Amino acid sequence: MVGHRMATTVLVGAQWGDEGKGKIIDVLTEQSDVVVRYQGGNNAGHTVEVGPEKYVLHLVPSGILYPGKLNIIGNGVVVDPLALLEEIDHLQKRGITVNGNLLVSDRAHLVLPYHRLLDALREKQKGKGKIGTTGRGIGPAYADKVGRTGIRVVDLMSPAQFAEKLRFKVRETNEIARTFGLKLLSFQNINEQYLEVARKLKRYVADTIKLLNRFERDGKEILLEGAQGAHLDIDFGTYPFVTSSNTTAGGACTGTGIPPHRINRVVGVMKAYTTRVGEGPFPTELHNDQGTQLRETGREFGATTGRPRRCGWFDAVATRYAVMVNGIDELAVTKMDVLDALPKIKVCVAYKLNGKVTDSMPADVELLNRCVPVYQEFDGWMTSTKDAREFDQLPKKARTYLQKLAQLSGSKLSIVSVGARREETMFL
Ligand code: IMP
Repeated sequence: MVGHRMATTVLVGAQWGDEGKGKIIDVLTEQSDVVVRYQGGNNAGHTVEVGPEKYVLHLVPSGILYPGKLNIIGNGVVVDPLALLEEIDHLQKRGITVNGNLLVSDRAHLVLPYHRLLDALREKQKGKGKIGTTGRGIGPAYADKVGRTGIRVVDLMSPAQFAEKLRFKVRETNEIARTFGLKLLSFQNINEQYLEVARKLKRYVADTIKLLNRFERDGKEILLEGAQGAHLDIDFGTYPFVTSSNTTAGGACTGTGIPPHRINRVVGVMKAYTTRVGEGPFPTELHNDQGTQLRETGREFGATTGRPRRCGWFDAVATRYAVMVNGIDELAVTKMDVLDALPKIKVCVAYKLNGKVTDSMPADVELLNRCVPVYQEFDGWMTSTKDAREFDQLPKKARTYLQKLAQLSGSKLSIVSVGARREETMFL
């Protein structure tokens, strides 16, 4: 694996997000020239530990932590420019160079203050049926994009164009704000604030589509980093409890402008168990001490919102589906060490629904909520895996468990991670 040519690789989350993609991206970045984000926005939180330092990246691709890599925020991302500038500032204060190594697509859509307002309002209106969003305005920003009233980075670069589009959106949002008795937005204030933002953002803006295609033709190693996970995908996820973008491999094409046949490899990241933040179905969720133990041992708290993550056993029905829709050729299994102290470990191999065994995920979330996992039980290895650096150094029971996860998911095991640090990684 290490040293073999990657060409253009897509890395995706194969569960509900938080699979530990940040760490795997960081490891693969070493072999890449260019790292690209293709969907989502600052709802994502990729945690990367480098020596004693810990970084949480929201919009900036993880390649920023390596010198000499180019980082691109692709056209499929929704960019909150205030959050981006704040992130850049924060990185620079910590000694990370952000100068000539970060570009933002001129076609990317913006997340603006009214998107955050609408995100909060919709969640409140939904009451008990809320999605549990990150509150970053992601859904409303993508809704505007598809509804053709979005404002893009390219518009921000042209003050007259930005003002015209903003005026329309502020008027439209204020009608809603009035209906719900919310504070009205001021066109003047937002416009002025974003003129300043535009000035600061300008140096990062580029035609990233043309550039990426040129890099691809020149044989550069390109890593396309997905955010969230397959079951949060707007088409393939547990709709409506999903995020508003295509988190799966197809999104890497529409979100960067790299054509499908130019993508050579799809790496799927999955935890050795399952977690989910926010609401929505989660068949293998544990509501007992075992769930609490996974949360505490795995330090399962959201990187963006700090919310405790729901925890449960590995769900092979869900990961098999993710392998199928992404075309995952290689699996990276993370957080194996979290299971080190468990005497018994379960894996969901099928669901039982209305007395019948099924190996597929129903489209209807009400039905998925009623699915009861059929478990296969494994003996735990009951020893620390933290120091293993080669697959063969893992206890036999841990190897059996990993091979079973890969076999049940229908893909090939390629990377195993036993800790947050770069060196705590095995390549098969
Ligand atoms: P939104 O993306 O903020 O609209 O949130 C929609 C759903 O996706 C919620 O369940 C969030 O908790 C979830 N979500 C969004 N981003 C992430 C992420 O990076 N990791 C895990 N869950 C996420």
